[in-house]
Amino acid sequence: MTRLSTSLCDLLGTRLPIIQAPMAGGITARALVAAASQAGALGSFGFAYTQPEAMAGDVQAVRALTDAPINLNFFVNDAPPPVAPETQHAAIDALTRYYQSLGLPAPAPVRAPYAPDLNAQLSMAEDLTPAVVTFHLGDLPAERLKRMRERGIKTGGSATCVEEARHLEASGVDFIIAQGAEAGGHRGSYLRNPYEAMTGTLALTRLIVRAVNIPVVAAGGIMDGAGIAAVLALGAQGAQLGTAFIPCVESGAPAVHKQYLLAAREDTTMVTEKFSGKPARGLANRFMREMNDNNAPQLVFPAQNTLTGALRVASAKAGNPDFVSMWAGQAAPLAREMTTAQLVATLEQETLEALDRLAALRR
Ligand SMILES: Cc1cc2nc3c(=O)[nH]c(=O)nc-3n(C[C@H](O)[C@H](O)[C@H](O)COP(=O)(O)O)c2cc1C
Repeated sequence: MTRLSTSLCDLLGTRLPIIQAPMAGGITARALVAAASQAGALGSFGFAYTQPEAMAGDVQAVRALTDAPINLNFFVNDAPPPVAPETQHAAIDALTRYYQSLGLPAPAPVRAPYAPDLNAQLSMAEDLTPAVVTFHLGDLPAERLKRMRERGIKTGGSATCVEEARHLEASGVDFIIAQGAEAGGHRGSYLRNPYEAMTGTLALTRLIVRAVNIPVVAAGGIMDGAGIAAVLALGAQGAQLGTAFIPCVESGAPAVHKQYLLAAREDTTMVTEKFSGKPARGLANRFMREMNDNNAPQLVFPAQNTLTGALRVASAKAGNPDFVSMWAGQAAPLAREMTTAQLVATLEQETLEALDRLAALRR
């Protein structure tokens, strides 16, 4: 039987050149990561907001289910300085009526640290020694990457422009994730203004493939085998899909997120900084529209994420989409509800069919 394989499979030790994108905030639940890896893709934990001890528990749980390769993913973000009281008050004022509409008191001022310590997370990752570590929103020091390489861990970083891709290659990563403007979730930009680094997946993948000498994985708006075949044609060695995995039975996304994703239309995603403090793409809702339109005051990332946390959780719990960060890419209407194993098998089959269709164009 024909199967789908590229140099990325040899590099990462996976059967397929497909990465189930890391999605921080609970979506990449243990069951999702285990099922994606077991099915032949690279299952990935989004550990941006996860403390090192909890990481260890998650990895051990997946290892009890499969010995296939897995990926641990982190946000690279310098801890911001403490937020001034006036800034806190303005950001809290902007959120208070939303909290009150759900019967909640106004949020308390947030206190540093706003996120787990990255170095502690990375040291735990070294101890856990997954097959792959990827990172978003920045780069890692060359000596950290070297240490991971010595332990046999392959590393990959997100780039939203050619400059970031070149920079990552020079720092010593094994592969680049080219994140096009269509992508759901946070823009991975770290050298350029994220609003300028908004090249689409088609253009960006091709530009980065031509600019670097290491494998490129395309991300953004890829939902099926036709999309995977398209980026392979551009010279990518693999595809990273986030939104496609959100409705999977094993995903930890809140029910309201799955439900609205499956009902999404073409024009229903937009980019906002108002949930977390950094631009991210998701299904448009009342919070995004009103906060963007009013250019409401916000805290820096990730302090704003902490400030909106209880609002997002309460809204999701109530089944109310108005205040949930329902991150999703522009091809959201192509989302399908199935098990993770079915999705991965479908993606492989569809990619092979798309490649056959293209080959049949040769006369
Ligand atoms: C809900 C959600 C959460 C995400 N969280 C992360 C994350 O924690 N780390 C990361 O590197 N990328 C994250 N991303 C971005 C993905 O890696 C990838 O760029 C994106 O999903 C590709 O676009 P697509 O959603 O259209 O497939 C997230 C994406 C989504 C949809």
